Amino acid sequence: MKTFVISGGTDGIGKAVALARLQRGDTVAVIGRNSEKGAAFLAAAEQSGALGRAHFIEADLSLVRETRKAVDEVRSRVGAIDGLVLCAQHFRSTRLVTEEGFENTFGLYYLSRFILGHELAEALEAAPAPVVVNVCGPGLDFGEIRWDDLGRESDYTGIDALMQGSRLNDLLGVGFVQQRPGPIRYVLVNPGAVSTSFSGEYDPVMAEQIEAARLAAKPVEEGILPILSVLDTPPAAPLSASMAGEPLELSGPAFDPDSARRLHELTTKLIPARIS
Ligand SMILES: NC(=O)c1ccc[n+]([C@@H]2O[C@H](COP(=O)([O-])OP(=O)(O)OC[C@H]3O[C@@H](n4cnc5c(N)ncnc54)[C@H](OP(=O)(O)O)[C@@H]3O)[C@@H](O)[C@H]2O)c1
Repeated sequence: MKTFVISGGTDGIGKAVALARLQRGDTVAVIGRNSEKGAAFLAAAEQSGALGRAHFIEADLSLVRETRKAVDEVRSRVGAIDGLVLCAQHFRSTRLVTEEGFENTFGLYYLSRFILGHELAEALEAAPAPVVVNVCGPGLDFGEIRWDDLGRESDYTGIDALMQGSRLNDLLGVGFVQQRPGPIRYVLVNPGAVSTSFSGEYDPVMAEQIEAARLAAKPVEEGILPILSVLDTPPAAPLSASMAGEPLELSGPAFDPDSARRLHELTTKLIPARIS
């Protein structure tokens, strides 16, 4: 039996992966910010006789402080981690700066994934064939990283912030395997359009587009299949990426090794060093 940790595991793709793995007999810890959704997840686990193997950890992952609290909580509840699945995401049509001073999408979509991956690496390395599955947006050739304005203070749009986050996560994968050569496999998964909660605060125009996208998207049970597959059999390559189940070439600016090093250095300067 395996152990999985899933951020954003209280809804959408993350929750579907969590329930599928619980049903198979694995242990699953989900991290989410909403206690009602956490209770619903535990109730679903109880119904399938898996309550003892299900954990809900409440944290607002847009905050570095709360993400690190979640790391501590994960460490106290589970031992070796076979798979870390990164799903937490929340779209914002209007720009929000967290109390820690980071733009919300940057904090949630990028920084929390950086911290969860790196700070749970030792627990992952204790498993026989560990894998990080970062569910993001590889393979989309738009989205610009504004190196001198990562918080997108000027001309913010929700789409630009989201797409920048996707490009940052591509480089996070490249940087992770540069920094941590070893047993952990890092997989960037773009699931394609999947009908989920599309967590977010949308302006009216975007809300209409999202509703149309949800109706046209594939069901979540189908969307999670590529993720379940890499959790079952982590790839041989240290880093890999796929879009809608099709492998992607790790070439071009999205996977540039120098940009990945630059981003890693910049990120370690942005977030305070871990004290313990
Ligand atoms: N669905 C698609 O078509 C699609 C396509 C391409 C890529 N993706 C990527 O796949 C991943 C999962 O997407 P999804 O559609 O399954 O998402 P979703 O249904 O919108 O669920 C997002 C999850 O993130 C959690 N979350 C949001 N803000 C949070 C915060 N501040 N702290 C902690 N947890 C928070 C949500 O919990 P609450 O509900 O409690 O806030 C929820 O559990 C995302 O990274 C997304 O970008 C999705």
